[in-house]
Amino acid sequence: MFSADLRAATWSEHQNAESTAYLDALMRGQLTLGQYGDMVAQHYFAYLVLEEAARAMRTDPVGAAFAIPELDRVPALEADLTYLYGATWAERIAPNPATVRYCARLREVCFDWPGGFVAHHYTRYLGDLSGGQFIRRSVARIYGLTDNGVAFYDFPELGDLQEFKTRYREALDTAPWSGEERGRIVAETLVAYQLNTEVLADLGAAVGPVADRAA
Ligand code: HEM
Repeated sequence: MFSADLRAATWSEHQNAESTAYLDALMRGQLTLGQYGDMVAQHYFAYLVLEEAARAMRTDPVGAAFAIPELDRVPALEADLTYLYGATWAERIAPNPATVRYCARLREVCFDWPGGFVAHHYTRYLGDLSGGQFIRRSVARIYGLTDNGVAFYDFPELGDLQEFKTRYREALDTAPWSGEERGRIVAETLVAYQLNTEVLADLGAAVGPVADRAA
């Protein structure tokens, strides 16, 4: 099954992304709410491009199965940014250097290569529906948030998330890709993980050594 092969071939990169100092500090409650907001801002720039690509892919015979409008995150990100940065959020955020590289790669491969689009789509949305749900619970508990500030992790239009992920994996398994194309998609997914890890590394560098908020 391609979905299982893709996961197996990229899981070590997943561990790299998951274990970045920034996410580790976030999950341990060592960051300020503003430092959490910095990640939300970086997400915003990447999802703007990814969801522009999704709109382009809705008429593609292969890409359309993945470009599901109910996944769109930009409206939730705008709501979270308004909560975290105030009404003038748009003037107060900027992409970090890794996000600039990430967005350039998204523009390069997601608009006219359905496999490239799926590689980046899978890396973000299946992550948001998996580890993202852990992140949501921790962040909500640490900062005392209910909906405001964590709307990004809520998918009210998707129904049961486990069932959705099962259908998503079926779409990966039934897409008409040759073995060679599947190999290219695995390679692009590794790139997607790498770029996400670099964004988190830039966020970690901006935070510097962390103080334990609980101390
Ligand atoms: C605190 C950080 C994270 C934790 C605790 C975490 C945890 C997990 C867990 C437990 C799963 C398996 C869920 C399942 O089998 O249904 C998963 C899947 C996944 N995660 Fe993460 N994750 C984290 C960060 C990330 C990041 C930063 C990315 C990418 C940028 C990511 C991308 C993915 C993807 C694509 C999957 C789906 C793998 C598959 O089943 O094919 N995760 N994550």
